[in-house]
Amino acid sequence: MGKIRILDKEFEKNIPFERIQEVIETMASKIHEDYKNSRPLFLCVLNGAFMFAADLFKHYPGHCEISFIKLSSYAGTQTTGEVKTLIGLDKEIEGRDVIILEDIVDTGITISHLANDLSACKPESVRIATLLLKPESLRKEIRLDYVGMEIPNDFIVGYGLDYNGFGRNFRDIYKITE
Ligand code: PRP
Repeated sequence: MGKIRILDKEFEKNIPFERIQEVIETMASKIHEDYKNSRPLFLCVLNGAFMFAADLFKHYPGHCEISFIKLSSYAGTQTTGEVKTLIGLDKEIEGRDVIILEDIVDTGITISHLANDLSACKPESVRIATLLLKPESLRKEIRLDYVGMEIPNDFIVGYGLDYNGFGRNFRDIYKITE
């Protein structure tokens, strides 16, 4: 399926599922190299990161835990600039090595807001793993520890990412054509 339509917009296939899986396997091994002597807590940022988090978690070969929070800041294709916490932390993270799992860092508003919030909970360490990064769109100075792929500033859907709630279920990633 090379082209798809979601609501009023057209998209074409951009990153195939197989490439996404390769990138995630490599990232899982790198993270494990760094956390061999720890039991990290992966923190998946819902909704977008649920597929990435599931695949990364499956490929992680060491002892680890996972938890979920739900943040939202987008309406349509644009950030509102305001990050809403829809579901918060359900786990004590004091003293833990936390690895935030994001599907995409675009402006960086969501991740910098979250990293800031988490530091108040006294974790031992916080690192960020993102499947995708749009370097041209980044507005915040933030250290990204694990980046799967850098991509241009196109609006994308699929593999967990949405356009107004739709398109998350596609296994490949699609970019907008109009
Ligand atoms: C998306 C994505 C990231 C964030 C990245 O979430 O999942 O969390 O935007 O954009 P930023 O770097 O410009 O902040 P969204 O707010 O669309 O919620 P969703 O994950 O439920 O789709």
